[in-house]
Amino acid sequence: MAIERIVDSSAADENTDQEFEQTLRPKDFASYIGQESIKKSLKLAIAAAKKRGEPIDHVLLHGPPGLGKTTLATVIANEMGAQIRITSGAAIERAGDLASLLTNLSDGDILFIDEIHRLHRSIEEVLYAAMEDFKLDIILGKGPSARSLRLDLPDFAIIGATTRAGSLAAPLRDRFGMIHRLDFYKPEEITKIIKRSAKILNVPIDDKAAKLLAQRSRLTPRVANRLLRRSRDYADVNGDGIIDETTATAALELLEVDELGLDSADRRLLSAIIGKYGGGPVGVETLAALTAEERSTIEDFYEPYLMQIGLLERTPRGRRATAVAWKHLGQKKSAAGSQAGLL
Ligand code: ADE
Repeated sequence: MAIERIVDSSAADENTDQEFEQTLRPKDFASYIGQESIKKSLKLAIAAAKKRGEPIDHVLLHGPPGLGKTTLATVIANEMGAQIRITSGAAIERAGDLASLLTNLSDGDILFIDEIHRLHRSIEEVLYAAMEDFKLDIILGKGPSARSLRLDLPDFAIIGATTRAGSLAAPLRDRFGMIHRLDFYKPEEITKIIKRSAKILNVPIDDKAAKLLAQRSRLTPRVANRLLRRSRDYADVNGDGIIDETTATAALELLEVDELGLDSADRRLLSAIIGKYGGGPVGVETLAALTAEERSTIEDFYEPYLMQIGLLERTPRGRRATAVAWKHLGQKKSAAGSQAGLL
């Protein structure tokens, strides 16, 4: 039961969507919309580091996917005038992989580690020693004849990104001088992002359409840009290339994105809780089995937005659909427990 999601690219779309995201990505703070308080403290840290002629302190960015962690890392690098190397926790399999990344850095470089929570514990240890002392301890050989070698590293900064800050070992988390949580954007900010993207792509869009797409973008820039792209396709094929309220509405209908920005997979999740478990509480593993989604996808992607807009609650005994969720799905709460027909 593979569900095509508007937020995660399907394989065929992945390249074009990634290229599209690259083009739209703001390069500096002036063009980065939203996350005002994070920008403010990063600007200060960057100005101070530049004044001292030092690299910026290590930065950890966390929060739901699509909110701009990678974008912000590239903005920091640009504003510092630093070179950025990009890798991810899953790609660093051995301590040697990390050693080679670190020893190939130059003074002032930034190493961006996406999904940093996926680093193995043993590699985390090497990393936090390097972050603290700018030294790399390497063990040569095994057993009684093993020797340790200490290498000097350049003055670098790590920017780590994760959807789950709670999964990082405390000693690693403590090595970050700045820890920022990216929050969902305000609808007005998403509207601005859509208008900015449309301008870059040279797609005419009117105010009403921009606002409509923004309302249904899960308060997430990546989703907003994806909806813009799909609306552009629709307008190119079925209209005159202009995105107005009619084309945007039709495109959203085709994508089955509703007034709250939920797609069929979100509704399936809520329907499972309501229809099979009378609204909950229900454990996340059970939900994963019922919806054929990974537990991590449910926790990292679906739940933050559903909780943000008040449709879902996390309780110690499991997930519960709120009264708003029942109403949104057109269900009456009094009939709790026996609505298997919903799925
Ligand atoms: N595109 C994606 N995220 C953006 C942001 N925060 N500001 C401007 N354009 C964006």
